[in-house]
Amino acid sequence: MSGPRGKAMHLNRGRKPKDAGKTIKRIFSYMKGYRGHLAAVFLLVLISSAGQIAATYFLKPLFNDFILPFVGMQNPDLSAFIRMLVIMALIYASGALATFIYNRLMITVATGTLYKIRTELFSHMQKLPIRYFDTHTHGELMSRYTNDTDALRNMLSQSLVNIFSSLVTVTGVFIAMCILSPVLTVVVVLMLLLMLFIIKKLGGKSGKFFMQQQASVGKVNGYIEEMTEGQKVVKVFCHEDQSKKEFDKLNEELFEAAKGANTFASMLRPIMGNLSYMHYSITAIVGALLAITRGLDLGSLASFLQYTRSFSQPITMMSEQFNAILMALAGAERIFEMMDEKPEHDEGTVTLVYVQKDKYGDFVEVEHRTGLWAWKQINENGKVTYTQVKGDIRLNDVVFGYEENKTVLSGISLYAKPGQKIAFVGSTGAGKTTITNLLNRFYDVPDGSILYDGIPINRIKKADLRRSLSMVLQDTHLFTGTVMENIRYGRLDASDEEVIAAAKLANADSFIQHLPQGYDTLLTSDGTNLSQGQRQLLAIARAAVAEPPVLILDEATSSIDTRTEALIEKGMDKLMEGRTVFVIAHRLSTVRNSNAIMVLENGTIIERGDHDDLIEQAGKYYQLYTGMFELS
Ligand SMILES: Nc1ncnc2c1ncn2[C@@H]1O[C@H](COP(=O)(O)OP(=O)(O)O)[C@@H](O)[C@H]1O
Ligand SMILES: [Mg+2]
Repeated sequence: MSGPRGKAMHLNRGRKPKDAGKTIKRIFSYMKGYRGHLAAVFLLVLISSAGQIAATYFLKPLFNDFILPFVGMQNPDLSAFIRMLVIMALIYASGALATFIYNRLMITVATGTLYKIRTELFSHMQKLPIRYFDTHTHGELMSRYTNDTDALRNMLSQSLVNIFSSLVTVTGVFIAMCILSPVLTVVVVLMLLLMLFIIKKLGGKSGKFFMQQQASVGKVNGYIEEMTEGQKVVKVFCHEDQSKKEFDKLNEELFEAAKGANTFASMLRPIMGNLSYMHYSITAIVGALLAITRGLDLGSLASFLQYTRSFSQPITMMSEQFNAILMALAGAERIFEMMDEKPEHDEGTVTLVYVQKDKYGDFVEVEHRTGLWAWKQINENGKVTYTQVKGDIRLNDVVFGYEENKTVLSGISLYAKPGQKIAFVGSTGAGKTTITNLLNRFYDVPDGSILYDGIPINRIKKADLRRSLSMVLQDTHLFTGTVMENIRYGRLDASDEEVIAAAKLANADSFIQHLPQGYDTLLTSDGTNLSQGQRQLLAIARAAVAEPPVLILDEATSSIDTRTEALIEKGMDKLMEGRTVFVIAHRLSTVRNSNAIMVLENGTIIERGDHDDLIEQAGKYYQLYTGMFELS
């Protein structure tokens, strides 16, 4: 992956699109459902541009056939003249109407396309392996859904159609100008080349500034996100000034980049405005000379002058949209890059099903919960076998590291027989949580094997493997929602009664009853309105409601007082009956009654046995237990 946390973000941001053609093609593939809309937009743009060009062209007969002959006439017949004006007005109006409709249509196309992209991005994100989240910051991932999507929306709803319409208009106007007066057209084109040259001079560096601006926005956002999350730590260590200083530095960078980018944009407008006035007057002078010397008619001159205005405007517009498009494409590439990340690899075919015993004592698969689970294996010749899920887990010589060349676990072998309680104790960083990460395949084991009821776990479908292992993770996470919903997260089809029973088992019921709305109390942002210990109780209840064959508790009771812990223990003992349990705990009283205790040190098991064995061995465990050695 892209190295340590955060780094990837800064490397990725602020670069130009790598392969614009490919990216555009891919964006269009999301617009397939809108072929009708796009065809309509195409036609409407043509109509709108044609309307503009035609209405201007009408100035010629208006001058030549009406206004000029009328000059000095006593009672001119105005009816034909008025008819002409009405026709012109109608053409203008239909052009404006077409513009209005195609803009509306493009908004539908853009929002619909982004809806699709966001949906796909989110559902893909759900499939990404934990490893991906290890190496990408939240801020970076968030900005795919905000900044990058926004840039893309801008391009789809405005830039694309603007550029297309500008191109059509410029082409049409050019043709009309050539018809009216080829000589004047040459003058206009020369002036235009001069304008383009100036844009290039002014804008040469601006693209870089626009990219920098986007990069800086990303950095500022990331920093704000980190500081809001860590606000308490900032305050506790009186880091406000320091964090403000760091923010100022990033903010300064953003300021410089934004200034560079926007100075160009704001300079371009007035300069181009002035240039186009100059352009206009020069054309007018040359036109007047032509009218005198070459007999250019006044009507043509009037139309032509009008055209010069609608010639330079789209060109300025296109140059302005160019940066927006570059940014949108770079954003789209980041979005697609995330979509192309390999999803969690799952070659598992063994599934978890509910079974019942028929009258011969054989297993039959059923839909509803029976309390009996089986692994369903289909072998090559299509024969289905059911193996009862017992919760027998064996690790054979497991070697693992998160990064290459850095071993975290070196040769772990252990077994847990069904219904046994296995405990891991050891210093922080010894690798306890890592073992549980391997059991539910957050990470895959390169060496050695893990067997679950005799089946290598990489042959079991990940979702089913995880359904069979209920976990209380070391850092509890609660979602915005009610207490009831948060516990039900463990098993979505659990009834209210089952949820409450699980809460009672975890000894969470009594504190929940005291919450303002009991089980309907809304928990906000990770349950900050609860104490750490209360959050752990909910997490235990969540695991309990799943009623899984294997239960893993990673420091699940570390923030719970000893009295409550003793109460939970009773409930848990009931829950643990007939289940295999892995417990990780700091407090040795919690693990005393385990069938086996593994003492972990630097990724190896240095002692194992039950409590009495270990005390007898008088090793590390003995020291820990008797308080001769403190767990760090
Ligand atoms: N996602 C990760 N990426 C890289 N290294 C990790 C990751 N998680 C843990 N580690 C490292 O693995 C080692 C064991 O961590 P862990 O299993 O969490 O220890 P503990 O026994 O305290 O639960 C530590 O040295 C830690 O730095
Ligand atoms: Mg841990």
